[in-house]
Amino acid sequence: MNFIRFSDLCAQGRAQGQRVFIRADLNVPQDDSGAITEDTRIRASVPCIRMALDAGAAVMVTSHLGRPTEGAFKPEDSLAPVATRLAELLGQPVRLVADWVDGGFTVQPGEVVLLENCRLNVGEKKNKPELAAKLGKLCDIFVHDAFGTAHRAEGTTYGIAETAPIACAGPLLAAEMDAIAAALQAPKRPLLAIVAGSKVSTKLTILQALAKNVDGLIVGGGIANTFMLAAGLNIGKSLAEPDLVGEAQAVIKAMAARGAAVPIPTDVVTAKAFAADAPATVKKATEVADDDLILDIGPQTAALLAAQLKAAGTIVWNGPVGVFEFAAFENGTKVLAQAIAESSAFSIAGGGDTLAAIAKYGIEQQVGYISTGGGAFLEVLEGKTLPAFEVLARRAA
Ligand code: 3PG
Ligand code: MG
Repeated sequence: MNFIRFSDLCAQGRAQGQRVFIRADLNVPQDDSGAITEDTRIRASVPCIRMALDAGAAVMVTSHLGRPTEGAFKPEDSLAPVATRLAELLGQPVRLVADWVDGGFTVQPGEVVLLENCRLNVGEKKNKPELAAKLGKLCDIFVHDAFGTAHRAEGTTYGIAETAPIACAGPLLAAEMDAIAAALQAPKRPLLAIVAGSKVSTKLTILQALAKNVDGLIVGGGIANTFMLAAGLNIGKSLAEPDLVGEAQAVIKAMAARGAAVPIPTDVVTAKAFAADAPATVKKATEVADDDLILDIGPQTAALLAAQLKAAGTIVWNGPVGVFEFAAFENGTKVLAQAIAESSAFSIAGGGDTLAAIAKYGIEQQVGYISTGGGAFLEVLEGKTLPAFEVLARRAA
């Protein structure tokens, strides 16, 4: 992927004294009082802001928060709590500026201003040209550092990238782009993907896209149950989508035609009820009873998949393979997580539940790259070119 890196501009002294506009993803969860409950995204945005400050830039940062109505400010839409947290992390004041689209505010080199929730600006969502033109005039350099929003073509994620004098990728976005290129464009083989989750329907396009590229497609959760049905196995009353069995068979067939495989579990962990204290039983995949719920892959399947993961060149991981929140049904996810950690493969992981599993098993340091994107990461796996990647490549040409 070809794009201008903000780090290069800074190293060349080209950000010195310049007005730098950073689009970050500071869309953090909040409780009912507005207090931030999880600040990963704010912390992930700090290196870019610091890079700009160290380079002598006058720094403007903005983000969306939630999905507010354009032109109708409500107190809960405000980035004020984010400004406070960002100031703590940076160790310097962060001034919050409202109604900023037409300029009229000052920012000096060495200073950081946080521009109020960009989704309050009329025209942001639909990327109206009038708004994009104004945004471009606010800065000398536009820095896209919001991977979480890279799948949106909005005013501050796309329009400004077309109108600003220079448009480049910040360190967080660049790291995502590099990791994605390493995992999906020029992967060291074998390339294995784990796609797990409750429904085939929500990840069908991902399964279809990966079936054209990966050497092994490990399915888990309700998705695996539908694939087991497709393989002619009884899954009892397990969560599945029988109407998608044909699609699952098509994926298996497409993989087989390339000499690749979708490993179907040979053993499973079952229970009679979906509960943390439900007695767990390990069974052969061929012996599932009509009143059984499959809640995890079995130990034999986990060991086989772990061996494949350890021998992989590249691993893409999206989704836990069992109900890992319950101790009795966490073994599959835990064994695969440990295999990924021990594997010399380059691994990239993303998606809310996946991050929770990584945190639970403490393997953050052993995963090659952990994506900060939710929907954006899934769209990458679907094989789409994200609007942010497209526009930054065009501006680098
Ligand atoms: C997210 O939370 O996934 C990103 O911040 C994108 O938010 P959006 O789905 O409202 O565009
Ligand atoms: Mg909110």
